[in-house]
Amino acid sequence: MSFRKIAVLTSKESWFVPYAKKLVNILNDKGCKAKLFFKHEEINKEFEIVFILSYFKIIGKEFLERHKHNLVVHESDLPKGRGWSPLFWQILDGKNKIPIVLFEANEKIDDGKIYMEDYILLEGHELHDKIREKQAEKSIELCLKFLKNYNNLKPIKQTGKATYYKRRTSKDSRLDINKSIKEQFNLLRTVNNKEFPAFFYYNGHKYIVSISKDKFIGNMGNVKRLMCVEALKKTFRIANMVFINFVDLSEAEKEMVRGWRNNIEIRKWMYTDHIISKKEHEEFIEHLKNDDRDLYWVVKYKKNEYLGVIYLTQIDFRNKHSYIGVYTNPNSKIHGKGTLVGKSLKKIAFQMLHLHTLKAELLEDNERAFNLYKKLGFEEEARLKEFVFKNNKWGKIIVMGLTNR
Ligand SMILES: CC(C)(COP(=O)(O)OP(=O)(O)OC[C@H]1O[C@@H](n2cnc3c(N)ncnc32)[C@H](O)[C@@H]1OP(=O)(O)O)[C@@H](O)C(=O)NCCC(=O)NCCS
Repeated sequence: MSFRKIAVLTSKESWFVPYAKKLVNILNDKGCKAKLFFKHEEINKEFEIVFILSYFKIIGKEFLERHKHNLVVHESDLPKGRGWSPLFWQILDGKNKIPIVLFEANEKIDDGKIYMEDYILLEGHELHDKIREKQAEKSIELCLKFLKNYNNLKPIKQTGKATYYKRRTSKDSRLDINKSIKEQFNLLRTVNNKEFPAFFYYNGHKYIVSISKDKFIGNMGNVKRLMCVEALKKTFRIANMVFINFVDLSEAEKEMVRGWRNNIEIRKWMYTDHIISKKEHEEFIEHLKNDDRDLYWVVKYKKNEYLGVIYLTQIDFRNKHSYIGVYTNPNSKIHGKGTLVGKSLKKIAFQMLHLHTLKAELLEDNERAFNLYKKLGFEEEARLKEFVFKNNKWGKIIVMGLTNR
């Protein structure tokens, strides 16, 4: 990284403070001399870069001229949506794909040249804190990408007609008692239970509504659980990925998957590494139809790019745990496909099936899988000695685990 002297500026009362600290730590770990500030007046030294993130005061030209770059992150397709709370205004409009840009600040509001753009992808169920988390993660990602790709970035002047969002206040969290919860669900997603909670008036009294998501469907009865598993046996979509359960595969897809699984680069890492015949494969898929504890999916990306297979096995709903497994399409050229499918497997396990712990078992020398699981947040928990017999010798298994926190 060529930049070293970096300031991160956020307002002391901002929700972003813990994430600003995180960004400073990441930068310092990368060898920068990064420092956190809560007031721009306190930045009296020259910095190569000032990241201005969730900062509420107006900053003058003189300050901006002192530093090489003053970078702001804003959640809209500028020049549309300048001003306050663009993310929440767009959620209220029913949007789940929210543009986010990093631009050079000038003395006007949200007017500077744009260096980079990306999207915050929501799924429509997230509440306030989760939305903030996604917003912060994307903001940090953009800042780090700016530093990494600086030499190839070309700032682009904003063009088109500007529109402005007004500031949201606690009054904007008012519910209309004559409208349904469904109609007002997006409003309920943007309110903050502590600072600007949802409320309504009824018969001259004001009522405060607090909203949170039930994380544990532990109390999910058998019927609900079966409905959930049944739904996961049908083809479904999360953002731009399609998940086809093995029991829903076409004949051609079944053969495609058998081809991947029989590829030496995949089967050599499995407990069972013989060539699987068509008959054996058919029987395996057939038995999955009546099996609620083992779920296998082929993951398709965008329109027609098959990424690989993910699976949850030995699912235990009482103790909320499961084993996981992944193998990627050996013919796909997409970079990072293992990470992509792995992240979606976590979503299915934690957010859809509400499991608590996941375990993965891998051969000791499967460095690639070890790195992938590490990247997904798994930690090594044990090494099982002489647990597999392969190539005429006993081998060790690494057990890795991840808990939903
Ligand atoms: C394990 C597997 C799913 C990983 O998929 P992948 O597409 O290579 O994964 P990614 O490209 O997203 O890489 C994930 C991480 O693995 C690591 N990695 C990638 N290639 C690697 C290599 N050649 N050697 C060591 N680590 C490697 C990196 O840490 C990478 O993170 P990075 O991109 O930030 O550097 C895939 O290699 C596979 O199908 N292997 C055979 C089946 C298997 O072993 N499954 C796991 C046990 S069930």
